[in-house]
Amino acid sequence: MPLKIAPATEADMVRSSEIEKRAYGPSESNAVFFPGEGMKTEDRIAIMIARKNEEPAFQMMKVVDTDLEAKGEDGIIACTLWFIWSGDLRPSKPKRTWGPGTNVEACDAFFGEMDRRWWARFEGKPHVYLKLLHTDPDHQRRGAGSKCLEWGTAEADRLGLVSYLESSEEGRPLYEKFGFKEVDRIVVDLSKWGGPTEAKAYQMVREPVSN
Ligand SMILES: CC(C)(COP(=O)(O)OP(=O)(O)OC[C@H]1O[C@@H](n2cnc3c(N)ncnc32)[C@H](O)[C@@H]1OP(=O)(O)O)[C@@H](O)C(=O)NCCC(=O)NCCS
Repeated sequence: MPLKIAPATEADMVRSSEIEKRAYGPSESNAVFFPGEGMKTEDRIAIMIARKNEEPAFQMMKVVDTDLEAKGEDGIIACTLWFIWSGDLRPSKPKRTWGPGTNVEACDAFFGEMDRRWWARFEGKPHVYLKLLHTDPDHQRRGAGSKCLEWGTAEADRLGLVSYLESSEEGRPLYEKFGFKEVDRIVVDLSKWGGPTEAKAYQMVREPVSN
C-alpha cells in the first residue's frame, strides 16, 4: 500500500481543513457547533497557525498516497496533529476564541471543557497529546489513521511519555488498538441549542511501552 507519513507544512493546512470538514461531515452536533455555513477554511487555518506559533510542541503530520501524487493529484489523504511535550517543553493553555461561524456557548461547553479537563490533568507535565486526526472519507479503512497512530505512539514510547486524547465514537476502536484506555468522558446535552442529540468525547490515556 503506497502510504507514507511525513511532516506537514503550513501550506498543507488547506488540504487538512478540507479533509477535516469532509471527515466530520454534516452531523446534527456539527449543525449546533457550526451553524449555517460554519467556520470558514481561512479562519480554521488562522487558528491552527496561531497555535503552531505559540506552541513549540506542535507537530502536524500528513499521510500521502504516493500513487495519487505520481498522477499529479494532491496525495494527502489524512492529517494528524500531536503535541509532544518532552525535555524542557511544558504545555501552554491555548488562547481560545471561537470566532465567526461558531456557536460560542456550545463550543465552550464541549471543546472548552476538553481544554479544561486536559489542563486539570496535565498542567506542567511532560506528555504527548493527540489533538487532531482525520482521514478523507474516500480513503478511510486503508490504514492512514493507523499510520498516524504508529508514528505518535512510537514517539511516545521512545520518549517514555504518557499519551492523551479525546476520542469521537468513530475514532475509539482505532485508539483502543493502539493501547489507549478510557479514563473519563465528556457528555454535553445539545437540546438547549435545538440539537436532538448529545455530544460525547472519550478521554483516553495510553501508558508508554518500553522497548
Ligand atoms: C477515525 C478515522 C481517523 C480512522 O481513519 P482510517 O484512516 O480509516 O483508519 P485505518 O484505516 O487505519 O483503520 C484502522 C482500524 O481502526 C478501526 N476503525 C477505523 N474506522 C472505523 C470505523 N468507522 N468503525 C469502526 N472501526 C474503525 C478498525 O479497527 C480499522 O481496522 P480495519 O480496517 O482493519 O478493521 C476516520 O474514520 C475519520 O477521519 N473519522 C472522522 C473524524 C474522527 O472521528 N476522527 C477521530 C477524532 S478523535
